[in-house]
Amino acid sequence: MTGNLTITLVVNGRSVTRTAGAHLTLLRWLREVADVTDPKYGCGEGICGACTVLGDGVPVSGCLVLAAQVDGATVTTAAGLLEPDGSFSPLQRAFHSHHAAQCGFCTPGMLTAAAALLADGRCRSRAEIRAGLHGNLCRCTGYGPIVDAVEAAQRERGRAPRVPGRTPRGPGGPQRCPGAEDQPPDASEAPARGASK
Ligand code: FES
Ligand code: FES
Repeated sequence: MTGNLTITLVVNGRSVTRTAGAHLTLLRWLREVADVTDPKYGCGEGICGACTVLGDGVPVSGCLVLAAQVDGATVTTAAGLLEPDGSFSPLQRAFHSHHAAQCGFCTPGMLTAAAALLADGRCRSRAEIRAGLHGNLCRCTGYGPIVDAVEAAQRERGRAPRVPGRTPRGPGGPQRCPGAEDQPPDASEAPARGASK
C-alpha cells in the first residue's frame, strides 16, 4: 500500500483521525501518528507480544496489522484500562502490588492480553493463565509474579477489567474465583518479590 490514508480509530475512548502513510502498521500509527506510546515495539514479527493492543476487545499484534485494516475500530491500550478517574484498574493494581513489572517493557502488552483473558468473567487456573499469555514474552522472565497478579485480579469478583466490546458471560456476571472469599476486594496481597510458582 502506498500514499496516504485518512484513518479514524477510537483509541482509549477518544476518536482520533489522522492522515498518514497507508503502509503504517497499527503500532506505528499509534506511536508515531497518534502519540499513544504505551504499546511497545519488540520483535516486529508477532512473536513477543510487546505491541499487543485490543482491537474491538480482541488482542491484536499491532506490529502485524496495518492501521488501514482496522480503520473505524475501537482500540484499547494499557492506558485505556485505567478507571475513569485515572486510577489503576484492579488488574493494574494487582500488577503493581505483585511486582509483576521489572523493566516494564512487556507490561503494556501483558496487561492488554490479560484484560482480554479476564474479560469473559471465567475463573482460570494458573496453567490456563499461562497458556492465555503464551504470546507475551517477558525478557526479565518475571512470569511468576505476572501470573500471581492475573490470579489476584480475577479473584475480585465483579471487578474484572472493562474491555470495550467485551462483556462478562452469564447472568451472574464474573465468576467468584477460588480464594476470593479469603480477602477483601482491595486487599494488597503482594507476595515476596520473585515468589514464582
Ligand atoms: S513487536 Fe509485535 S509481537 Fe513483538
Ligand atoms: S518486565 Fe522486563 S520484559 Fe517483562
